[in-house]
Amino acid sequence: MIKFVHIKKILVTGGAGYIGSHACVELLNSGYKVIVIDNLSNSNEESIKRVQKITKKKIQFVKADLLDKEALLYVFEKNNIDAVIHFAGLKAVGESEEKPLLYYQNNVIGTINLCQAMIQHNVKNIVFSSSATVYGSCENLPINENSKTAPKNTYGRTKLIIENFLEDIKKSDHDWGIQILRYFNPVGAHDSGLIGEDPKGVPNNLMPYVAQVALGSLEIIPVYGNDYSTKDGTGVRDYIHVVDLAKGHIKALENIAKNSGYSVLNLGTGRGYSVIEIIDTFKKVSGVDIPYKVTERRKGDVAASYANVTLAQKELDWIAEKSLEKMCEDTWNWQKNNPNGYV
Ligand code: NAD
Ligand code: WQD
Repeated sequence: MIKFVHIKKILVTGGAGYIGSHACVELLNSGYKVIVIDNLSNSNEESIKRVQKITKKKIQFVKADLLDKEALLYVFEKNNIDAVIHFAGLKAVGESEEKPLLYYQNNVIGTINLCQAMIQHNVKNIVFSSSATVYGSCENLPINENSKTAPKNTYGRTKLIIENFLEDIKKSDHDWGIQILRYFNPVGAHDSGLIGEDPKGVPNNLMPYVAQVALGSLEIIPVYGNDYSTKDGTGVRDYIHVVDLAKGHIKALENIAKNSGYSVLNLGTGRGYSVIEIIDTFKKVSGVDIPYKVTERRKGDVAASYANVTLAQKELDWIAEKSLEKMCEDTWNWQKNNPNGYV
């Protein structure tokens, strides 16, 4: 349904985190006013300061938890919020299997609280961070938005539950504009080197692991299996530069300002790279030797996952532009400049 809403002030949940901080840069640079809610459970307020340094613009920051309904309502009451970009959530797959209720409570209940506060204050535009994890087994490649959803882990199930109830909200009230974005594998950092991914402890994901081995803070990369039916036997993924991803959110906002409705889009590049290709490219751009050893497959991993991105290109007029070299270059620049992250 066509509509014309002027979206000016955005509530960014989880805006101190990795993707959220990059989205804040793009939002401020595009002229939006930004208010961030984050409980800093997996981030540092320093990222907000750095975003302000990059953009020379101000962010209103509220340290609060989405489980705190009062705090949420207060934020909506005191601000004229036009739309929400909802990044806040826990995202560690392994931890979600160990502590399922923590994940259901934080991700699902947190989002229900958010939607209730939105309804109470008549805010009906939301962009939601979902994940390619909702597809699970990835049988038909490239994966399009109609592919079967069957998440293999608790984290993925929290994302799918949220997608489903957001769709129900839309069915109950057609004024809502809901954009579900299923990210593939976000990597890289802002090219200022001021913001980037700052995992707590030993990284679970490949790119930050490679960066820490290159830096010398970790010894060797475990390559989880080289007997998959892929180009070189190692896992293949659709890595997308976090700045391209952040720009996709601006396009998604523009889209919900014009159209109400519920839509699901893949955000990726449409190209798959293997673990070995990632290590080799990182080696090339950093000039550092990066040792690795092949180990057992990691439980729950699929051989290959990459997106069909034609729908996002069409609906958002958006395309990921940055190369794998640039992804590695920017990760390395961030890691070298911030060997201990934001601390
Ligand atoms: P992140 O952990 O860096 O950012 C999430 C932010 O949310 C953190 O700053 C954290 O402190 C905050 N947060 C968590 N629970 C909260 C709560 N209850 N109340 C307030 N703040 C809370 O993660 P990210 O990589 O930036 O991911 C952002 C979103 O994108 C997440 O929803 C994640 O599930 C999703 N996603 C991430 C990836 C990825 O690989 N990074 C891929 C697909 C989807
Ligand atoms: C990539 C490839 C590994 C680490 C995860 C989540 C997913 C999404 C993105 C949030 C795989 C291999 C990895 C290492 C390795 N997050 N690998 N050694 O598993 O595709 O997706 O992050 O939504 O939900 O599951 O990303 O970076 O962990 O792995 O060999 O030390 O690198 O086996 O083939 P993944 P990843």
